[in-house]
Amino acid sequence: MKTPNNGPSEVLLAAQGIRKSYGHLEILRGIDLNLGTGEHVSIIGPSGSGKSTLIRCLNFLEMPDGGSIDFGGKRIWDEKSPIKEADSRAHRTKVGMVFQSFNLFATHTALQNVSIAQVHTLGRSRKAADDRSRELLDQVGLSEHLDKHPGQLSGGQQQRVAIARALAMDPEIMLFDEPTSAIDPEMRVEVLRVMKDLANGGMTMISVTHEFNFARDAADRVLFLAGGLIVEEGTPDEIFSAPKQERTQQFVNAVSGIV
Ligand SMILES: Nc1ncnc2c1ncn2[C@@H]1O[C@H](COP(=O)(O)OP(=O)(O)O)[C@@H](O)[C@H]1O
Ligand SMILES: [Mg+2]
Repeated sequence: MKTPNNGPSEVLLAAQGIRKSYGHLEILRGIDLNLGTGEHVSIIGPSGSGKSTLIRCLNFLEMPDGGSIDFGGKRIWDEKSPIKEADSRAHRTKVGMVFQSFNLFATHTALQNVSIAQVHTLGRSRKAADDRSRELLDQVGLSEHLDKHPGQLSGGQQQRVAIARALAMDPEIMLFDEPTSAIDPEMRVEVLRVMKDLANGGMTMISVTHEFNFARDAADRVLFLAGGLIVEEGTPDEIFSAPKQERTQQFVNAVSGIV
């Protein structure tokens, strides 16, 4: 189990009734998602159910078509008041994002990859950025690899660089979209350990994942998304051991391989 948070926390992110279509295809059909400070919610669901679309709507990489989003108690978006490009960029600096693909700069070292946006986006000095990068790369277990290029690192190591790079922006929330899906199984463990440490350290997080053991260990709450709706939500135990909806049971059994 995840180390419980201390007492009730305020809501950091509140998404209400999020809708999104691509052409005539309705992908999200009204999603409500509240996240307290320090809370970690895992999202599970079949491929194509809109998990990535939802995550991308939360930091305006995609614009939702309907609903509203509050962040830190402030309404930052609703369908009547579209967000300005500058405001969505400002919002994105508070939101750390880790994707399935690591997208590191191939010609830069691990250290440079973590430092670069600190200098260009946050205006830190090169020295301050590099100091912080060393700290973070140590935190993710890569202090031996500061000067290596992505091509010299395993997938799991590259993803940990990408996590350090996101953390370097001092985000208020971290969004993970299937961060271990492109990594060899034996390399996933260290990435999941880093994510679990973050969750236990009080980071506010959403993780889209097929790693049920991880969600069971590290999430406060699990949402099952299918057909553009949240079919069921509950504690990891409720969702994985005693799902109420048949659709959830089918999915959990299929992924766990016990059909
Ligand atoms: N930019 C896009 N344009 C058109 N269709 C898209 C776009 N992005 C995603 N989709 C479609 O939306 C559906 C949900 O995709 P996605 O959110 O990636 O699902 P998941 O992450 O759950 O696998 C899929 O059918 C996908 O093909
Ligand atoms: Mg996806």
